[in-house]
Amino acid sequence: MKFGVCYYPEHWPEAKWAEDAARMKALGLSLVRIGEFAWSRIEPSPGQYDWGWLDTAIDTLASAGLSICLGTPTATPPKWLIDAEPGILGCDAQGRPRRFGSRRHYSFSSLAYRDHTHRICTAMAARYADHPAVTLWQTDNEYGCHDTVESNDPDARTAFRLWLRNKYDRIDALNEAWGTVFWSQEYRHFDEIDPPLATVTEPHPSHQLDWRRFCSDQVLSYNALQTEILRAHGARAITHNFMGHFTQFEHFQMGAQLDLTSWDSYPLGFLEQAWWDDETKRHYARCGHPDFAGFHHDLYRGVGQGRFGVMEQQPGPVNWGRYNPAPAPGMVALWSVEAFAHGADLLSYFRWRQAPFAQEQMHSGLTRPDDTESEACNELRLAQALLACAEGAGSAPSGARAALLFDYTALWMHEIQPQGQSFNPAELCLTYYTALRRHGLDVDIISRDGAFELYDLILVPSLPDLTLSEVTRLQASGAEILLGPRTGSKTSEMTIPPDLPPGPLKAVLPIRVTSVESLRPGVTPGPDIGVVERWREFIQADFAAYEPGLYGADIVWRRDLFTYVGGWLTPDALAGLVQDLATRAGLDTVSLPEGVRLRRRGQFVFAFNYGRDDAALQQVMERLGARWVSDTLQTKEIDRIRIFAV
Ligand code: GAL
Repeated sequence: MKFGVCYYPEHWPEAKWAEDAARMKALGLSLVRIGEFAWSRIEPSPGQYDWGWLDTAIDTLASAGLSICLGTPTATPPKWLIDAEPGILGCDAQGRPRRFGSRRHYSFSSLAYRDHTHRICTAMAARYADHPAVTLWQTDNEYGCHDTVESNDPDARTAFRLWLRNKYDRIDALNEAWGTVFWSQEYRHFDEIDPPLATVTEPHPSHQLDWRRFCSDQVLSYNALQTEILRAHGARAITHNFMGHFTQFEHFQMGAQLDLTSWDSYPLGFLEQAWWDDETKRHYARCGHPDFAGFHHDLYRGVGQGRFGVMEQQPGPVNWGRYNPAPAPGMVALWSVEAFAHGADLLSYFRWRQAPFAQEQMHSGLTRPDDTESEACNELRLAQALLACAEGAGSAPSGARAALLFDYTALWMHEIQPQGQSFNPAELCLTYYTALRRHGLDVDIISRDGAFELYDLILVPSLPDLTLSEVTRLQASGAEILLGPRTGSKTSEMTIPPDLPPGPLKAVLPIRVTSVESLRPGVTPGPDIGVVERWREFIQADFAAYEPGLYGADIVWRRDLFTYVGGWLTPDALAGLVQDLATRAGLDTVSLPEGVRLRRRGQFVFAFNYGRDDAALQQVMERLGARWVSDTLQTKEIDRIRIFAV
């Protein structure tokens, strides 16, 4: 795994660059990402490019033996461009433009911005694609960050109408598919349709779903515009840095446009942002949630074509959480080694030096504004020392036998009509992932088009618009299949299937969901149903052939390889069910102590302790009868991380 860092030469006097480069090299870093916010320096005024400083920066880094990931600077169009073309600005739900003065202030649909994107990317690619040190390109930066996938601007409205026309051809077909007769929402022409934003109450759900698909397609075509230019100029490899906890566009489809998928991992910031209760947040405040980074490593490895990495790794306190604690000693090293265990071949820290000015002045780096090393440098050395013990682990992680099916449309459908404020589909997916990882299982996260036949156990947390051909493919895989609540509950147009949920699943599991209920915290479905909270389905079996419900209640149904859960199970009930299925599937499991996770890569097992019990890893090692390969390194910090030989 290469170690890297994000660097902003334009923030520092040129006199510092060579020394910075030498220090990076001495720390064992080999890739430096630059350029992604530097448009105002690359093109200070219209059409006048200043390549001098960037040439020097690239050459200085290259002379120190560093490779470069060069970012296209499109996340920050400069002021002169916005003043010349105000139509570039993305708009809020009411159609009011967002203002210049931070970043990501463009609309993906802006035709003017696509022209300028074409121009700046072409100029950069023509100049640097052949440079021997530029081994990787990053398109833009974190598409969608700061809630920027949707924009109600004139170009977006026009493009949406065209998108709908291409999809439905005739307006009657759209009216029929959506069911616009409800509340007199019928349209006579495609040109009458606006984005489903700023309405009096809930906008039409089918309209919302198509809008979300359209917005996602705009991000995809915008990225394709950049990748096509870069490839045409001979770019060696292209990535984009995805985000954690972000699902507003179809990442699997974008993965197909990239050579390497990467993401930005801020475990403490994400813990603060996500749904966990205060007690959980306090418990993991300095470590992050034990499954959050792992889930995203597995997701983005699956989204890509094989090569994946972390483009931005949290090095210390960030500036953007509600609270921004310092990581516990050893955690930055743990996060770094964990990325490797999950298959990463790049781990790059954000950022080299803390900036003493502007929005992110409170964000830590590998070095401080006075050039001294921050704590993160020693963590990096620790991670490198640990990885040196796992030499020969191979470039790809060993094949997992358990998979989790993750689908962006499924999340959008549940977000559009949650039917209960605690039905959080992203949380549901992570809960299913946790149920596997608590048992020490490695997991691949796959799309609905994934190779189901590679697995013995497949968890589908929820797939509302499941199709018959997917049921057939799941059945043909021969794997044990666990399907969560609301699977098969919608058509692809976001209507209830004519023969009721679970729709096409009935072909293999003859049950019918006759109604559902959502429950506020503390309300349970009934005295005999302690395993369910939040969501419960009332299920009838149409055929005599079904097996009786498991868990003493009509919540979990099974026939042959298919098990369906008609409710939101408590974590322990779900873990029990997954354990049962893993056994049926012939997978070896181990019940891990709180906060401990395992991940195999090559002949090594990596063990990580996010919890508070310092002896936990020792216990796991004894239980597995494993030999620790890193014992010569023992320090208190690395007691959170152990590497076993299998
Ligand atoms: C990321 C972003 C970086 C920086 C970082 C701070 O979301 O890509 O540019 O803002 O957060 O944590």
